[in-house]
Amino acid sequence: MSFNVAVSDQACGAEISGIDLTRELLESQISDIRDLWLEHHVLSFPNQLLDDDALERFTLCFGSFGDDPFIAPIPGRKNIIAVKREADEKVPIFADNWHTDWSFQETPPAGTCLFGKVIPNQGGDTLFANQHLALEKMPSSLRKKLEGKNAIHSALIPYSPGGGYGDKDREMGRSMDIRASHEAFSKQLHPIIKEHPETKREGIYGTIGYTIGIDGMDNQDAKKLLMELSAWQCQEEFIYRHKWKKDMLIMWDNRSVLHRATGGYEGQERLLHRTTIAAYEE
Ligand code: SIN
Repeated sequence: MSFNVAVSDQACGAEISGIDLTRELLESQISDIRDLWLEHHVLSFPNQLLDDDALERFTLCFGSFGDDPFIAPIPGRKNIIAVKREADEKVPIFADNWHTDWSFQETPPAGTCLFGKVIPNQGGDTLFANQHLALEKMPSSLRKKLEGKNAIHSALIPYSPGGGYGDKDREMGRSMDIRASHEAFSKQLHPIIKEHPETKREGIYGTIGYTIGIDGMDNQDAKKLLMELSAWQCQEEFIYRHKWKKDMLIMWDNRSVLHRATGGYEGQERLLHRTTIAAYEE
């Protein structure tokens, strides 16, 4: 391997150094990065002076761009969104709930790339919960209740006009360009226990928030079971806490981990550019 790998001592994650992502990558480097991504689920690349062209080029090494609904791209780019918060912003932190990206789509993105442009000097960590590990350690009594079941995924809680990032949130002055719409009411089924399309490892896919019910199950019973699942799947022992630095790129595997943003940087700006990698095609 032509670069260095430092594996985290947490539930997943590895840091890659000794590679310059502003240059075109060799096929062998792309293949090594892909293998490490599948093994460790979250990769970070510190000290990368990436502009938007380089971020897009890196993303395209791993698949085509995913489709980002509900968040307008930055000016001049179709496939980059800004995850941002002004120093004086008062609305709730964006994405401060466990989720896997756009799981309410028919073919959700395989991965997400996030590049740190303005990073506060404290707080703003991103948390990841390893869903292979969470399934491996799951008590069989809980697993039995989930096996063979499909969750109902929808963006209605956050992205419908009356939802968390809907009309009221916009009026309150969020700096991110979120476009809530009625499209958020559509629903999609995905298995709760799902095989990873590349590694064939089983994991838990999705969590309450974007999952709003379980197909064929009474609503109250489904909510109770989803709550029980969510209490299990995001426990400390499954978590990797990512600490940001400016000019750091991370990429994560949406099929293996849940993630969430955190606050703790009141009065400071935070800005990251984000792309998604479309679903894997064999
Ligand atoms: C996201 O979910 O893309 C945002 C994560 C973060 O802001 O830390």
